This record gives sequence, C-alpha cells and structure tokens, in this order.
Amino acid sequence: MTTTNRNSVTFTDNRTQKQGEFPILESVYGDDVVDIAAMNRTLNLFSYDPGFVSTASCESAITYLDGDKGELLYRGYPIEQLAERSSFLDVCYLIFNGELPTLTESKDFENIIMTHSLMHENLKVFLQGFRYDSHPMAILAGTVASMAGFYHDKLDIHNPEHRMITAHRLISKMPTIVAAAYKHSIGQPLVYPTNSLSYAGNFLNMMFSSPCAPYEIDPVAEKAMDVLFILHADHEQNASTSTVRMAGSSGANPYAAVSAGISCLWGASHGGANEAVLTMLGEIGSVDNVSKYVAKAKDKEDPFRLMGFGHRVYKNFDPRAKLIKGIADEVLAKYGNDPLMEVAKRLEEVALKDEYFIERKLYPNVDFYSGIIYKALGFPTQMFTPLFALARTVGWITHWNEMIADPKMKISRPRQRYIGHTLRNM
Ligand code: CMC
Repeated sequence: MTTTNRNSVTFTDNRTQKQGEFPILESVYGDDVVDIAAMNRTLNLFSYDPGFVSTASCESAITYLDGDKGELLYRGYPIEQLAERSSFLDVCYLIFNGELPTLTESKDFENIIMTHSLMHENLKVFLQGFRYDSHPMAILAGTVASMAGFYHDKLDIHNPEHRMITAHRLISKMPTIVAAAYKHSIGQPLVYPTNSLSYAGNFLNMMFSSPCAPYEIDPVAEKAMDVLFILHADHEQNASTSTVRMAGSSGANPYAAVSAGISCLWGASHGGANEAVLTMLGEIGSVDNVSKYVAKAKDKEDPFRLMGFGHRVYKNFDPRAKLIKGIADEVLAKYGNDPLMEVAKRLEEVALKDEYFIERKLYPNVDFYSGIIYKALGFPTQMFTPLFALARTVGWITHWNEMIADPKMKISRPRQRYIGHTLRNM
C-alpha cells in the first residue's frame, strides 16, 4: 500500500500489478478514513476486518470519543460538563436535535416526554405474558419490538416528523417498560408513571413504590440516576448501536431495530458486563482473593476475564468510569458502604499496577463501578443491563434517525471470505 498524493491511498495487488487509487476523507477529529467502496469494482478484492477494528461503518455527527485521551463528546460537548451542568432530558434533546435546548425548548421537551410515559394497556397485558422469572432484558427486547404493533400510526420512516415522534415515544415509555419488567418479576402490580416527577424521579417511583407503601424520592438517588443516564446516553458505533443501524438499514421499523440493539446490548462483552461485574465481585468475595482472580484473568488457558476492564476504543481511563467512581463514593456515603466496593477498589489497584494490564492498556470501563451504585440504590443485579438500555435508547434512535436521513444510506450487506467446500456433487 502506498500513498501517491496527499488525499488518496493506492493499493497494488502484487500478484497482478493492478492498482486502485482510493480517496482519503478527512474526519473532524480522529483518524481520517479511506473510502474503499470502489475497491471490489477496481481490484476484485474485498477488505477483511473481523470485529471492524479498522473499519468506519458510517459517517456520523453525534458522538466522538478519543480512546487515547479518554475523551467523550456528545455533539461536541465534553461528557464531564454535561454530567455536571445538564440534565438527562436536556442531553436527550441535544443528542437527538444537535443543539442544547433553550429554556423554553427544554420545558416543552420535558412536557412532551413526561406526558407520553403511559404504555398502552394492551402492551401491559403483552408484557405480563412473560414467565415471571424471565430475564428483564428478554422482556424488554420483546416488549419494545411489539410497540410497532401498538404505535403504527407514525411509522413512515421517510417522514422526519414520524421519526421524531417515535423517538419521543421510546424515550418516554422506556422507563415505564423497564420498571414494569421489574414489577412483573417480583409479582407486584406495575406502578403507573407520574407526569409531575422528574424523569429519573418518576422511574425510581415506578420501580420502588407499591400500592401499600409509597416511595419517597431521595434527591441523592435521583441525581445519581440522572447522571448515570447521561453517561450511558450514547457511545458512537458500539456493537448495539451498529446493530440498530444494521437492522434499520433494511427499512425495518424503528421499534424492531431498537429491539435488536437491546438484544445485542445484553451480551457480557457489552452492556451485560455491569451485571457480570457484580457476579464476579461476589465470586471474588474478599480482598484476600483479588490476586488469585487477577492471575486467572491473565492465564490464557482460562476463559475468565476481569469484567468491567478493557475497551475496544479507550486505551486510557474511560472518562465515564472516572465520573461514576465519584458518584459511587457519594451514594455509598449515604447508603452505607458495600464490602464489594473494597473488593472493586483493590482489584482496580492490583490490575492497574500489573504489567499484563499496563501493556494491553486495560483500564476500568463504564461498567466497573455502576453496578455497585445500582446495588446500593436497591436495584437487583438483573436490572443493571435494562438500566443501560433505558439510557442508551436516545443514542440508538438518534443513530437510526441519522442513518435514515443520510442520502448515502444503503442496506448493510457485508461480504465474506469463503473458506468452505469447493463444489461437490451429492
Ligand atoms: N481481562 C483480561 N484480559 C483482557 C480483558 C479483560 N477484561 N480485556 C482484554 N483483555 C486482553 C485480551 O485477552 C487480549 O490479550 P492478548 O493480546 O494477549 O490476546 C488483549 O487484552 C486485547 O483484547 P481484545 O479482546 O482483543 O480486545 P477487544 O477490543 O476485542 O475487546 C472488550 C474489548 C471490552 C470486549 C474486552 O476488553 C472485554 O472482554 N472486557 C470485559 C467485558 C467488559 O467489561 N465489557 C464492557 C465494555 S464497556 C461498556 C460497553 O461497551 O457496553
């Protein structure tokens, strides 16, 4: 591969000496990209990149993260500033619309979201058809997919107004569905939303109040949840967002696409890691066992990995993990320290000094401390990944919207390197 001029790359197939020149497209931040769309036509070659480690799958103007600096920007604003000075609903507005809302826009948006939080009564019946001990992520994926059957009046994907209404519906109803999945799992009646509460306050109330025991919303818990939602709202082309884009690229309805994203998020390498971290900390049990588990994580014969450590893009501290550690200290100061926090802190300390983790640039990620906060606030472990899904909904639907509005959008249809049988007869 050679670069013949500043704005292109030339590939030469050394077997045939055929050459193809491909344009370099500049990025605002991050590495520039080589546009190889014409490569197969020119050279009869496909690119091969398992796991997309060197592949940009789309153009996007929503979120940027710099893995070396440990920087995360939503629409250009640093995550630290948004976490400190904004609210989750203002961040949703920013992510979907591209700009922070004015005071009036903020109030109007909050009003729209908080007055559309009820789910259709038949949707409730649908959700209650799940076995009581189903994992809430299964309930969430199924219920969100079924929304296409309940809200099909605004499903013209080529109509920007329909797309916006769908985004509002998803952001509004997701807390109701997540809380209902929980209530279903513990055999309690679901709690209806209260429009006058904040987004996070309403969610906590639907989770923890019951007809016989009202729940008093603690401002510390309400603020912690709001900030955690902000930190999880978007993360550029991660696995679940790419899944939403891929599912949506066929013209599938947005509820189906988001449901596909929820299913992808569930995996332990992605959003399922927050649940897996708590399971792992419980298994480690005591600070005395930390070294043993670090050794297991380094052993190539052992499939065990330190959950909540490592990231495809961050090769420095995940900025979200730093902010979450601060919230964890605040929440635990109020809700009582958890012995697992000591295990987590020791694990971080030991791993960060270990050559294996230093060499591979493995740092704690967003999931490392979030579970400890959720646990302190009373969420059962199985609810951790649904909380991630609730917050990520705005990111998913914004990426879907950006993709549908992109005139260059094509159905996602990767190719393969075939390594199967040659032609044979039966
Ligand atoms: N524990 C031990 N070793 C690890 C870990 C870990 N958590 N993560 C990566 N490695 C090693 C890996 O074995 C490999 O070593 P070697 O070069 O000797 O073969 C090297 O580090 C590179 O790992 P990789 O698997 O090629 O990296 P990746 O970019 O494909 O995977 C990851 C990224 C997040 C899936 C991975 O780090 C991991 O499995 N972490 C644990 C699960 C986790 O916490 N996931 C949450 C990610 S952040 C939130 C989200 O995306 O939802």
